Amino acid sequence: MMKKLMACLMALCMILSLAAACAEGITTLEEGKLIYSTSPDFPPFEYRDDNDEIIGIEPELIALIAEKIGLTAEPLPMDFDGALLAARVDMGAKADLIVSGVTVTEERKTIYDFTNPYTTITQAIVSKDGAVTKDQLNDVIIGVQSGTTGQIYAEDNFPNVTKYETYSLAFQALQNGQVDCVLLDDAVGGAYVKKIPGLASQPTDCEIEEYAFGVNKGNTALVDAINGALAELIEDGTVEAIILKYNE
Ligand code: ARG
Repeated sequence: MMKKLMACLMALCMILSLAAACAEGITTLEEGKLIYSTSPDFPPFEYRDDNDEIIGIEPELIALIAEKIGLTAEPLPMDFDGALLAARVDMGAKADLIVSGVTVTEERKTIYDFTNPYTTITQAIVSKDGAVTKDQLNDVIIGVQSGTTGQIYAEDNFPNVTKYETYSLAFQALQNGQVDCVLLDDAVGGAYVKKIPGLASQPTDCEIEEYAFGVNKGNTALVDAINGALAELIEDGTVEAIILKYNE
C-alpha cells in the first residue's frame, strides 16, 4: 500500500516535471518557482539592460541553479532594503531567497539561512578622478546605499554619510556634487567607473566580504539543494565563466 502510494507520488512528480524538486523534498512559496528578491542597480551582479530586462552574474547563476533543482527562477526587483525584507520569514516572506550581492555577516546569519559563498569583494571608494582616498574619509561626504555593509562601515567610522535607496541615485549625487564619494563593493564600483566618465576608484583597508544567497530561515532543504547545484557549477567552471563574461 505504502509502496504504491510512493510510486504514485513519484510518478506525479515526473509528470509535473518537478522531478528534482520533489526528489529532494524542496518546498518554495510558489510551486515550481524560485522567487528571488533583488536590487538590480548592482552591475555586474544584477542590473537592467536596454530592454529593461534584469541581467547579470547572479540572475544567470540562479537561473542555472533553479533549473538543476527542478524550479524556474523569477526575480522580484526592488531597492536593497526592500529586497532584504522580502526574504525574511519573520516579515512574511514574499521571496524564497535574496539574490542581491549579499555579504554574509554574523547579524544576517540570524535572519537568513545562507548558502555557501561563491565569490568575494571588498569595499572601495569611487570619486571624481579618484580624488578621495581612504585617509580623507573623515573630511568628506560619503554616499552609500541604504542597508548595505558599505553603509554600516561608513556610519561606524566616519561623520558624514548620506544614504540612497539605489546606487543609481548615489552616483547621480556624486555627479551633482552632493556627495564627494560613493563607498561600495569594489567590483560594482569598477562597473560604475566604466559606465560614467571621469570617475575613478581608490582602495580601502576593509575586510574581504563573501557573497552568498540568503534563503528563508528554516528552509534547509532549499539551502542544501542550492548548495549541491552551486558546487557542481563551481566545479565545472561555470561560475568562473559567468563572472568573466560580465566583467568583459
Ligand atoms: N554586499 C553589500 C551588502 O551585502 C551590498 C549589496 C548591495 N546589493 C545590491 N544589489 N544593491 O550589504
